[in-house]
Amino acid sequence: MQSRDALQPSQRDAKSIVARDTWVIDGRAIARAVRREVAADVARLVAAGITPGLSVTLVGDDPASQIYVRGKIRDCEEVGIRSTVTRMPADTPARVLLDHIDALNRDDGVDGVLVQLPLPAHIPTLDVVSRVRSDKDVDGFGAPNLGCLVSGEPGLVACTPGGVMRMLAEVDRAMGGFPLAGRDAVVIGRSRIVGTPMALLLLDADASVTVCHHLSRDLRHHVERAELLVVATGARHLIHGSWLKSGAVVIDVGITRNADGSLSGDVDFASALGIAAAISPVPGGVGPMTRAMLLRNTVDACARRRGEAAGLRSAPLTFRATRP
Ligand code: GUN
Repeated sequence: MQSRDALQPSQRDAKSIVARDTWVIDGRAIARAVRREVAADVARLVAAGITPGLSVTLVGDDPASQIYVRGKIRDCEEVGIRSTVTRMPADTPARVLLDHIDALNRDDGVDGVLVQLPLPAHIPTLDVVSRVRSDKDVDGFGAPNLGCLVSGEPGLVACTPGGVMRMLAEVDRAMGGFPLAGRDAVVIGRSRIVGTPMALLLLDADASVTVCHHLSRDLRHHVERAELLVVATGARHLIHGSWLKSGAVVIDVGITRNADGSLSGDVDFASALGIAAAISPVPGGVGPMTRAMLLRNTVDACARRRGEAAGLRSAPLTFRATRP
């Protein structure tokens, strides 16, 4: 079993932060590495005459969504993805939005179609999500891509769980071995965009996965036996460090904005130091990874749909099953 002693100083990056023997996983640094890889793939595509394109649609004027969309556009610029934003008023009829998605689905220059959520209440989210062509569904929210995680077919993975898997690969490297196979993994939260795909990805990596949710009895009991804990509930400081197994790796997906504007995670970070072997902080953990994986998905979608002519069809898709 992994203990926090397994985290050898020589195996950490020189710049990595270690607080009371707990490695604070630098999501910003890992996301930078992902963006560098994506930029190199974009350059290969552009050299073959193909510029990857992402289309973002924002309905209404939710302030948080405006900030997220601006960030996505900046990220695209950095790696060379062409991006377009369509802004629609909050009272846009669902029909108009669906017609817009149909047009983007037909547009050969658009590789990724993303409709920013949440949508105004009168627009049925599921109708919108399922309208996006599955090979342009860079959010990975649609049934075909979610289904790929079950069937084992290659597909586009939702950005947050995809980012967590990439983060865990880095944890494995930095800790000199944190294999997922056979590991007791507990996922808290069963949403279809984070918890459920997260559990399926961990299962594909041969972890023993328990999924807990708001009706789970004795959450602490489950947390105490987790060697890997992924928490995605949006409930500020739901998990106290004293619940953790010594040497656990903790990935905190939740983000809550406090009254003073600061951000908190689902895990009480300070109390986890000295108990967890590694923990992703909020902010600076999973958030940057989610943004980076959107770029990864957009370029993979482009290479898969349009890269064949340029001999780039073998570009990676974010999910490939490890076995049939
Ligand atoms: N709103 C908050 N996060 C996301 C996301 O990852 N995708 C979309 N489409 N909307 C969001």
